[in-house]
Amino acid sequence: MNISKICCIGAGYVGGPTMSVIAQKCPGITVTIVDINEQRIAAWNNADLSKLPVYEPGLAEVVAEARGRNLFFSTDVDTAIAEADMVFISVNTPTKTYGKGKGMAADLKYIELCARQIAAASTSDKIIVEKSTLPVRTAEALQSILHNTGNGVNFHILSNPEFLAEGTAIQDLHHPDRVLIGGENGEAVQALVDVYASWVPRERILTTNLWSSELSKLTANAFLAQRVSSINAISELCERTGANVDEVARAIGTDSRIGPKFLKASVGFGGSCFQKDILNLVYIARTYGLHEVADYWEQVIIMNDHQKRRFADNIVQTMYNTVSGKKITFLGWAFKKDTNDTRESAAIHVADALLSEEANVVVYDPKVTAQQVYADLDYLCSRSPEENRRLVTVVNDPYDAMESAHAVAVLTEWDEFKTYNWHRIKDSMMKPAFIFDGRKLLPDNKLGQIGFQYYAIGE
Ligand code: UDX
Ligand code: UDX
Ligand code: ADP
Repeated sequence: MNISKICCIGAGYVGGPTMSVIAQKCPGITVTIVDINEQRIAAWNNADLSKLPVYEPGLAEVVAEARGRNLFFSTDVDTAIAEADMVFISVNTPTKTYGKGKGMAADLKYIELCARQIAAASTSDKIIVEKSTLPVRTAEALQSILHNTGNGVNFHILSNPEFLAEGTAIQDLHHPDRVLIGGENGEAVQALVDVYASWVPRERILTTNLWSSELSKLTANAFLAQRVSSINAISELCERTGANVDEVARAIGTDSRIGPKFLKASVGFGGSCFQKDILNLVYIARTYGLHEVADYWEQVIIMNDHQKRRFADNIVQTMYNTVSGKKITFLGWAFKKDTNDTRESAAIHVADALLSEEANVVVYDPKVTAQQVYADLDYLCSRSPEENRRLVTVVNDPYDAMESAHAVAVLTEWDEFKTYNWHRIKDSMMKPAFIFDGRKLLPDNKLGQIGFQYYAIGE
């Protein structure tokens, strides 16, 4: 099977960068990314590359190279499906907010809508690729919808989970540790292998059966998140005992069986994947009656919620048990550095806790808009939108943001925070000037010398 046209449904954080790189590396394949969100497609087509809807280092260069050549962004979903040999499904799969499995299971309504749309728009055989993270055996549901169209079109379904991390998406796509392709039809699997083989060494392209591929994605994210919760659990113990969590992480990370990565203590993991995928895993395990398995993984989320909560509690406690009317400046709102994505960001929950204590929260983030900050807080429904706007201000200049603040809280590990003139900041703040470093990012002894009251996770 030779692939000359690819369609990707969903122009988000996964679909956008992934398909841009496929187009860049495979100039012979026409790649069309479609989305029902007109604003998003318009932003992807913006002549000003700084206005792309997704911020990722290196992405604008890739889009500049391929867009208009063999990379297209469109809202005409049906035409793109009809013309494609291969259709990637890269739509969002949020946690269900209603009904059975509420708060736990993945909401597959967008996936199902996609399948029905593919079934309706197709007049020739196609390979359908699941790119979104999905509960195990979703392919089965896709298959049953697609195979019952009765119009004589054949579909082969593949699972090809994406392992890119935001902030390093382009680097991860250019040099993946592995590409995983699950499927039952050898020819279809080979067709997708050939696409990736244009730039990924063949030995890094793993093929498995459908279910192994689907489960591997959830498992990889669960293991990664589990490492963060494990080191965060130790960070609390460090704070009580005088051990330093960075030293502990270095000491254990040099054991080659453990390895040094993903051992950075923090205010808690965020992002669109970790929590959602673990909840999914927990829900699936419970569905099969595997309660010990479910409880084991659920603990990773419980620990993460605790970490966010105790960071906020520590701020209140340290500031004489009241933050009411006090200005607390957040450095960072994104869930990690080098992205404008805020989904499940720890900052949202820490802010929510402080707002419930009547604090005035001022937010500075190099890439997140004010509109997004308010949307994230409004989504929680903890208080009225008016109340959120009364208590929270979003500022474009970090020095303005910190002027006359009672405390600074570091929520995201943006590199630029390390380069600030902390003498100047200290002089402009209320005294005692508190810093609560949720990323253990700033040089503690230097800040202590300047005269800050400095508190960091795990120290
Ligand atoms: C362990 C630590 O590895 C060592 O660093 C420390 O000094 C002492 O404790 P040990 O208990 O001798 O060493 O053996 P280890 O190889 O770690 O195995 C421990 C148990 O885990 C064994 O029963 C082993 O069969 C089991 N295991 C290990 C697994 O079931 N799966 C694995 O992947 C690895
Ligand atoms: C994750 C997986 O890494 C990726 O393979 C998968 O495709 C999608 O989910 P992502 O959520 O984009 O990627 O970012 P990641 O780097 O994994 O960080 C997730 C969260 O964990 C962030 O909030 C980050 O700050 C936090 N984290 C990560 C830590 O607190 N400490 C660490 O050591 C690593
Ligand atoms: P991810 O991080 O998984 O990429 P995003 O929310 O960033 O998630 O992107 C998913 C995109 O999929 C959104 O832009 C959304 O508008 C789009 N989408 C959802 N359902 C459909 C559909 N049926 N047809 C086209 N696009 C869709």
